[in-house]
Amino acid sequence: MKNQFAHDVLEGLNSTPKTLPSKYFYDKKGDELFRQIMELDEYYLTRCEYEIFQTCKDDLLKVFANSSHKFNLVEFGAGDGYKTKVLLSHFLSKGADFQYVPIDISGNVLKLLENSLKQEMPDLAVNGIRNDYFKALEQLENGGTRNVIFFLGSNIGNFKYEQAVSFLSELYENLRKGDLLLIGFDLKKDPEVILSAYDDNEGVTREFNMNLLDRINNELEGSFDRNTFKHCPSYNPLTGTTESFLVSTEEQTIEIMDSAVHFEAWEAIHTEISQKYSLTNIHDMARQVGFTVKNNFFDQQRYFVDSVWEK
Ligand code: TRP
Repeated sequence: MKNQFAHDVLEGLNSTPKTLPSKYFYDKKGDELFRQIMELDEYYLTRCEYEIFQTCKDDLLKVFANSSHKFNLVEFGAGDGYKTKVLLSHFLSKGADFQYVPIDISGNVLKLLENSLKQEMPDLAVNGIRNDYFKALEQLENGGTRNVIFFLGSNIGNFKYEQAVSFLSELYENLRKGDLLLIGFDLKKDPEVILSAYDDNEGVTREFNMNLLDRINNELEGSFDRNTFKHCPSYNPLTGTTESFLVSTEEQTIEIMDSAVHFEAWEAIHTEISQKYSLTNIHDMARQVGFTVKNNFFDQQRYFVDSVWEK
């Protein structure tokens, strides 16, 4: 894993423009910082989706159970299940016939989630799978039970539009007719609101970005001085793309293991993309991939949508 990290970092920093893969944000410190981001006033995404689940849990169950049929609630990248638990406990209390299948690449995350579910909802059937998403779907033996796939938060937003289409096309191929997908999209809105979510006043997001440099220093003998880098987020209302950059404030050479990486003054490292969508974008994308849009569930401010698609 360390070799993979070294390889990806050096490949990214030797590309033009320079990039660092966003998956490396999430080490122990990064997980904690992201937890803090989710609690920021400016970061509306988690709260919006939580609100949607609270207010629409009855309607969601109707759509999923389709007149009291059995279903598998399969969550891609389950994390700590904070939002999903709202639905799980509601569905349980309504006597719905379902099992929860959290899928995560991290065994540790899965174990924590399964333990907390055992405590909080001892009657819930849980069948976690540690694998990547499509392999896990293959692994899920289900004799004709309807799958309801959850892809929450801004997960789809981490892809560029074309990447999102190819990911969802592959997902489509792995589903059967009648299976559902519940997918979260952050909607286009006041650019100021969006930009603040990635540039908070307390500087937590800045810290989150800088942590990546610390991580390279600690794990790959890097020589980054975070005082010579600036956290610079941007939002383009035309394309709907939010991007984060770390910009070198001076010309410098950084050592990483046995390599050297040169920065011109004001050269940027691209660290993150978060794509925002209009409803038209969402419907176009579903159609392009082959899904039918069944329902859209919004928060009160219409900042976010959980869209339910059917194969
Ligand atoms: N990609 C996630 C999002 O769009 C998580 C995130 C929030 C993030 N702020 C960030 C990732 C800053 C990298 C940098 O909400």
